[in-house]
Amino acid sequence: MSSRIIPVQPFDYVVFGATGDLTKRKLIPALFHRFVDGQFDEQSRIIGVSRSKLTDAEFRKTVRDSIEAFVDNAYLDKKAIERFVSICTYVANDVTDEANWGDLDGSLRKDTSIVRAFYLAIAPDLFGPTCEYIKKKGYYRRDARVVIEKPLGHDLASSIAINDEVSRIFKEDQVYRIDHYLGKETVQNLLALRFANILFEPIWNSAHIEHVQITVAESVGAGTRGYYDESGALRDMVQNHIIQLLTLVAMEPPASDGADALRDEKLKVLRSLKPIAGPDVGRCTVRGQYRAGSVDGAAVAGYLDELPKEKQVDGKAVSRTETFVAIKAEIENWRWAGVPFYIRTGKRLPSRASEIVIQFRNIPHSMFDHAEGAPKANRLVIRIQPDEGVKLFLMIKDPGPGGMRLREVPLNLSFAEAFAERTPEAYERLLLDVVRGSQTLFMRRDELEAAWMWVDPIREGWDAATDNPQSYMAGTWGPTAAIALIERDGRTWHEDGI
Ligand code: BG6
Repeated sequence: MSSRIIPVQPFDYVVFGATGDLTKRKLIPALFHRFVDGQFDEQSRIIGVSRSKLTDAEFRKTVRDSIEAFVDNAYLDKKAIERFVSICTYVANDVTDEANWGDLDGSLRKDTSIVRAFYLAIAPDLFGPTCEYIKKKGYYRRDARVVIEKPLGHDLASSIAINDEVSRIFKEDQVYRIDHYLGKETVQNLLALRFANILFEPIWNSAHIEHVQITVAESVGAGTRGYYDESGALRDMVQNHIIQLLTLVAMEPPASDGADALRDEKLKVLRSLKPIAGPDVGRCTVRGQYRAGSVDGAAVAGYLDELPKEKQVDGKAVSRTETFVAIKAEIENWRWAGVPFYIRTGKRLPSRASEIVIQFRNIPHSMFDHAEGAPKANRLVIRIQPDEGVKLFLMIKDPGPGGMRLREVPLNLSFAEAFAERTPEAYERLLLDVVRGSQTLFMRRDELEAAWMWVDPIREGWDAATDNPQSYMAGTWGPTAAIALIERDGRTWHEDGI
């Protein structure tokens, strides 16, 4: 990780939804870290906007509180916090009440060398009215940026509607659609691993790769967020984060790191995904829902027990929402024909662990007739979180006398051990990429829509099915059908070190 800090141009960052959870937990802490590291200073402004009637001083208190709650103690320096809150101001505004619209005139600066960005940390049904507000009040500039994030729709049609609303005011080159997985250091490292080394690219294809696994496991539950019950794991994790990971693994080498060069290649992968529809939905997908169990030695409730009261019918919780998904995906192109991509994600799994496993093919012929142990196929494990790193499993000769004994060992690059610096949070990179005007790590509209096109028939297949998601005990790796999904093909989920 480079510790070189390149300051960004001064900016006015307007955050709609300034008292919401996302702002408190992610945006403020991320901006604070970048400020402390010197990437911007008091020449920039953060302008909080939300419906609550707060004064600047009251908003600054919420900023201070969120830094204290969500930034590691080691970085809490009183002077730095006070310097940071001094650039935060607040405007109360309800975008749905045009007659009483709040004024940003006193907060936004006219100087066009100051970058202007609007972060919509609000529900998507407010994106349209907020963009209208920005335009009608005269805050729009052709070089201004707007940041939006999921849920960007619940299917293709609703996603098109949201994008249409935003694009009525902002052009595509002004729209920054966040998928925070793209801001993770290890996800960007996947690009470096694939395209800054000569080693992998020649063997990164169906001739040498037998299959790929992508796991995003969480030990936390779905919680009491009403949103989750409407969404489920397919929309919450697969449609965005996992599909993004899959495209980065599978895409052709882009000609440059320019936004469109990279996104064009990702889009080609999305368009090559074999549709899973009709009877294939039952064959290629598994959905699960956790019941009570135990995670890390602590007893935890089942998904239905956690559902808020308003979701209950006659005092009984009813929901077919999936908290686990496993899919066997295929990419129909020259590079990947015949190479399955097994993906899975779930809540209340035994641990928080996200990784990509590239399983290479066996060697074509083994010369080790008299050796102890047969050569095993190589495996590359890219660990996204936690314990970020890369492991390449190789065969070696077990050292010492006793003839040729073959043993599999990992060549282990642990980022925590190799690099002393703190790993920045995804939002730190993304928030300032907006200021830099770099869209490379943001989703383009056609990408987002192609992802929905692939996911929608799966959802429709599930909706049409009469069965419920399969139950799995909290603290296990999902329903047994997920294990069967891969074992039917003579393979197993990689759980080594997870
Ligand atoms: C969010 C999902 O997008 O990603 C959450 O809505 C999920 O349900 C979270 O927990 C996972 O993010 P991370 O960065 O903790 O892996």
